[in-house]
Amino acid sequence: MKVGLLKYLVCPNCKQELVLSNKFKKNDEIVEGILKCKNCESIYKINNSIPRFVNTDKYVDTFSFEWNKFYDVQMDILNNSDESERTFRWKTGWRPEDLKNKLILDIGIGAGRFADVVSRWGAEVIGIDLSFAVDAAYENIGHRENVHILQADLFNLPFLPETFDHMYSIGVLHHTPDTKRAFMEVVPYLKKGGEFAVFIYGKGYHHYFSDIWRKITTKLPVRLMYYLSAIAIPLYYIHKIPFFGRIAQAVLPTANWPDWRWRWLDTFDWYTPKYQWKHTWPEVFKWFKDAGFTDIELFEEGMSGLTQICMRGRKI
Ligand SMILES: C[S@@+](CC[C@H](N)C(=O)[O-])C[C@H]1O[C@@H](n2cnc3c(N)ncnc32)[C@H](O)[C@@H]1O
Repeated sequence: MKVGLLKYLVCPNCKQELVLSNKFKKNDEIVEGILKCKNCESIYKINNSIPRFVNTDKYVDTFSFEWNKFYDVQMDILNNSDESERTFRWKTGWRPEDLKNKLILDIGIGAGRFADVVSRWGAEVIGIDLSFAVDAAYENIGHRENVHILQADLFNLPFLPETFDHMYSIGVLHHTPDTKRAFMEVVPYLKKGGEFAVFIYGKGYHHYFSDIWRKITTKLPVRLMYYLSAIAIPLYYIHKIPFFGRIAQAVLPTANWPDWRWRWLDTFDWYTPKYQWKHTWPEVFKWFKDAGFTDIELFEEGMSGLTQICMRGRKI
């Protein structure tokens, strides 16, 4: 953790000032330490350079596993790729000039693939995640001057209202117990005039079989699911067979990325999370409206409008 992060942090319980003590520093990083609330005396540890505002990873243990196993797969910088940057552009509609020198909140940072993009675009980004994905994200990009990573629950964030210039949450809110409540919970942290971009799974008949499979797969041990998800690697070739391939894909949907590691990761990511809600775009549009947003836009690429809801609005 950089000392500079302290000015943005407050106690998540009572929103009062935190005092740093017992710190062990390495260069400019606080590697270990204690953050104590001046008011309610709650204590939060800094451990492995990350402030921890939760004691467990609750219902996101599959993501703790996922992002530490597949920590490098979707990181542009580690793969000489621009896949995550292109994805970020079309999912949020933002360009580098929109975010440069702004303070951005990444809600559900995962292994940090989008925080990587945003920090390269010249923004200061704070990434939070409930899972131990934060350790992978820290390894990937935590050393950058303009990146801060902390382990926290989006339902109980350690910030004051109206702290951030812009916020985004990509593939996260539908993995909480209640997508709409999660959306409403984070809106207060955005400044008036700031923009919020989300990506949320869309409802559709094509999820019929995977929803049935998920009733089993979400109950299997995570390590077993890690090996079972690898079936996506050879299935890719079977899915190319005319007619039979389409049926196989419909009955046992698996990710179809050309890169075999992406197929494995995305299949694991689909079949393991405890919560996986799907919504329609008018539903998400209404959340933006009800939360006081204007200039609400839906971003689509190809068929994505049907299966993925990418929406952004400006807070009034
Ligand atoms: C599918 S991953 C997406 C990660 C990243 N946004 C990406 O697109 O690569 C969903 C993430 O949401 C996080 N998450 C779920 N519920 C959360 C909560 N209540 N607070 C913070 N993070 C949460 C999970 O731990 C997980 O890392």
